[in-house]
Amino acid sequence: MKSETKSEAVAQISLSINGEVRPVRSDPRSRLSQVLREEFHLVGTKVGCDAGDCGACTVLVNGQPVCSCLTAVGQLDGARIETIEGLRDSSPAFDRLQKSFLRHGAAQCGICTPGMLVSSVALLKENPRPDEAQVMDALGGVLCRCTGYRKIVRAVLEANQPSPASAISGEKASVGQRVARLDGRKKVLGQDIFGADEWPEDSLLLRVVRSPHHRAEFTFGDLEAYRRAQPGIHGIFTARDVPGKNCFGVIPQFSDQPVFAEREARFLGEAVAAVVGDSAAIAALDLSRIPVTWKPLAAITQPEEALKPGAPAVHASRPDNILVGGRVACGDVDDALRTADVCVEAEYETGFIEHAYIEPEAGFARRVGDRIEIQACTQAPYNDLKDIAAILGIPESSVRIIPTAVGGGFGSKLDLSLQPFLAVAAWHLRKPVRMVYSRPESIRSTTKRHPSKIFCRAGAASDGKLVAMDFTADFNTGAYASWGPTVAARVPIHASGPYKVPHFRAVTRAIHTYLLPAGAFRGFGVPQGTIAQEQLYDSLAEKIGMDKLEFRWLNALDDESPTVTGQVIGGGVGIRACFEALRPRWQQGRKEAAAFNAASRNSLRRGVGIAGMWYGCGNTSLPNPSTMRVGLKRDGRIALHQGAVDIGQGSATVVTQICADALGVPLEKFDLLSGDTDITPDCGKTSASRQTFVSGKAAYLAGAQLKKSILKLAGGCDCARIHLLDGSLIVEEAGEKKSVDLSLLPLDERGYVVSAEATFDPATSPLNNDGQGVPYAVYGFGAHLAELEVDTQLGTIKVLKITAAHDVGRAINPTLVEGQIEGGAAQGLGMALMEEFFPGKGENLHDYLIPTIGDMPPVESILIEDPSPAGPFGAKGIGEQALIPTAPAILNALYDAVGVRIRKLPATPDKVRAAILAKAAASPGNSHA
Ligand code: FES
Ligand code: FES
Repeated sequence: MKSETKSEAVAQISLSINGEVRPVRSDPRSRLSQVLREEFHLVGTKVGCDAGDCGACTVLVNGQPVCSCLTAVGQLDGARIETIEGLRDSSPAFDRLQKSFLRHGAAQCGICTPGMLVSSVALLKENPRPDEAQVMDALGGVLCRCTGYRKIVRAVLEANQPSPASAISGEKASVGQRVARLDGRKKVLGQDIFGADEWPEDSLLLRVVRSPHHRAEFTFGDLEAYRRAQPGIHGIFTARDVPGKNCFGVIPQFSDQPVFAEREARFLGEAVAAVVGDSAAIAALDLSRIPVTWKPLAAITQPEEALKPGAPAVHASRPDNILVGGRVACGDVDDALRTADVCVEAEYETGFIEHAYIEPEAGFARRVGDRIEIQACTQAPYNDLKDIAAILGIPESSVRIIPTAVGGGFGSKLDLSLQPFLAVAAWHLRKPVRMVYSRPESIRSTTKRHPSKIFCRAGAASDGKLVAMDFTADFNTGAYASWGPTVAARVPIHASGPYKVPHFRAVTRAIHTYLLPAGAFRGFGVPQGTIAQEQLYDSLAEKIGMDKLEFRWLNALDDESPTVTGQVIGGGVGIRACFEALRPRWQQGRKEAAAFNAASRNSLRRGVGIAGMWYGCGNTSLPNPSTMRVGLKRDGRIALHQGAVDIGQGSATVVTQICADALGVPLEKFDLLSGDTDITPDCGKTSASRQTFVSGKAAYLAGAQLKKSILKLAGGCDCARIHLLDGSLIVEEAGEKKSVDLSLLPLDERGYVVSAEATFDPATSPLNNDGQGVPYAVYGFGAHLAELEVDTQLGTIKVLKITAAHDVGRAINPTLVEGQIEGGAAQGLGMALMEEFFPGKGENLHDYLIPTIGDMPPVESILIEDPSPAGPFGAKGIGEQALIPTAPAILNALYDAVGVRIRKLPATPDKVRAAILAKAAASPGNSHA
């Protein structure tokens, strides 16, 4: 792999890059980031936005941190540039920082890590002992979407402390240990390969022609004549060039999205053609000159319009524009609500939410004989493989998917993005083709969280027991199915919350409109439902006159109580323990807030809110297998073929910890073979909090199976211990040691001395028409407590602290679990207070706001371990769970502080201020305003 230069520019500028004077051949107007990456192949400097918003591209220029994407090289003649590649070889401060980042779990996906580390080096050079405020100030320009920032702040504050001895070594069990992530060193040294970081030397570049209208018919002019007139353009591809099916989708029975639209585009940003050429031609390409004629058509964008009789059909095969519905019902809801002592009802609304991972989609494809290879960021390599085979009309065995490191996914990288374009172009041209989405292109064309409109009613008896809930939700699923069916199915199951509700009805619909597809985003609709349900239960508790935590505790599910689908989980239902763990802080926090408010002589008011959650791990009532392979090598090391894509959450580390303990050998004996469909079995996709549970269990079973084979090989009994040395195996039994020389043994058909492969598929059952059955084998539980301060004059909210209790069954790696909780809480905070995407507007990271380091309060994680009978060592998932209760806890705290409810998110200052004023107007003399 080699870099590629941008233009023919003359060498007039030179830079000192990491201590070496280098002449620059690129155009002086080129961005420094681009020159570093493309001309000098210093790809440790990342690009997340090209607009000065994310800070991922931070380098030192003459010792000062600078956004290299905003700096033209022409301004820098003679300047001293230091990138992560130089700092890691020369800076003692960097060395301490990278170790501290690793120790604290401060790098998750790692795409922001170079920017964070470079900014931290600059800080520590000026101020070796900064305080927290100074760290937050210095890192304020770098966005992180994964960590919630707090571990990064701590890593910088404690960078000067000596590294403790490794938390785990020798024979010690690894499950439960704070092991540094196994792929962490590459991340903190800037050596991880993301989608944009590697490409074949002779790659062509690709750009996509997209619809500028929500809905439009289109016709092409003479594309071939256009192509011939453009030197360096090698091909223009449209729907007619798709050799197989011009269709893909994450759920095969709902596949409906074309690679390139045919005749009519159904959303603004939909692809209609791809242009491929050499780098100079693509750099000079003006997409607006491609001969295409658009005829805009009336576009429905709201579900209410889509449902009206006579509305245009987004898909002729889906009557009334309803993609699919979901339903769960038990008992007699109408009667129970009529006779309940207390009833409440309300409507809630949420909008599109952008995933805002810092890594835009990127990768390359190349044809190798009659096979296609795609190296790109993805959460679902085997799904990609199947769809690409169908698109190209070739056997699945002719497709190889090599996932790169993923710079954040959160659900959106489950869907194909640029892979089909690259595959079609590389297939026809027989040359490697690469592409990197720009930030606006990423935002414009990829999936979002489903907007929701929810109406719900709930009733309780005067003793506080919930008796009934009625819940309806419509989700705007956009133009194509994506994960709409999953959202419609999952939400009604979870709409009760983790509580006993004897009479229950939840009905959902995923409704098509002419907007970009809504898909998977951490929680698959459950966060939207929980925002409604947990606010409503808060109102119910208030109306009954009960403490809001005690109301939830009283109604919480236990091991033996049936859920609303009639499932008795039978073990590992730790929701009550979560509320109990929060009780001390709940009581203390409320006292402190009351005292603050009583003493306040200004516009500040404090409040405390709580919310609970549950989440079924894995697919809903569908097969969900994962397969792991593990083998003993002649050198005495263990190879783990694990295809579970680690998108930053740490699954590669967690499944290895599990396998190590099942096998009974230390973690450091493992070599990981990850992320390549040619060498790893199918572990399913990284979604729905399934990897620790499902792939972890497969790793456990494979490890246990290999242990048996190894002991058999050495003639040891089941209780014997395994020791692996260089090239030999020692089995220890009752003080006796038997040694086997591995180098002399034959290899099995997989190329190992002995090997094992195991598949785990959790037991679920189909749901009947009332949604009754066993949708999931394992559930995670949790509750968050939010403490905040409202400025009633400005309507601004400052979250002061989040306390998060999660029942994770068994914390395989507590540091990684905490990382998920803190990162989930940050995304939940963003959802509550600032995030909403409007299609066609604000396709960048300065209009679309996500929490910055200054927005995040301390997050205290409390880990509850109520083991799941089905999980490996009792473990459940945590990825989705962590986000779900944060937003409703914040909204409940807002109500506690100032007595207003924001039911249409996000709770931006204008809405909060307006609600406070409306409340004051309705009850004069009782105003905070
Ligand atoms: S890439 Fe430079 S600030 Fe985002
Ligand atoms: S670790 Fe910061 S963006 Fe992923």
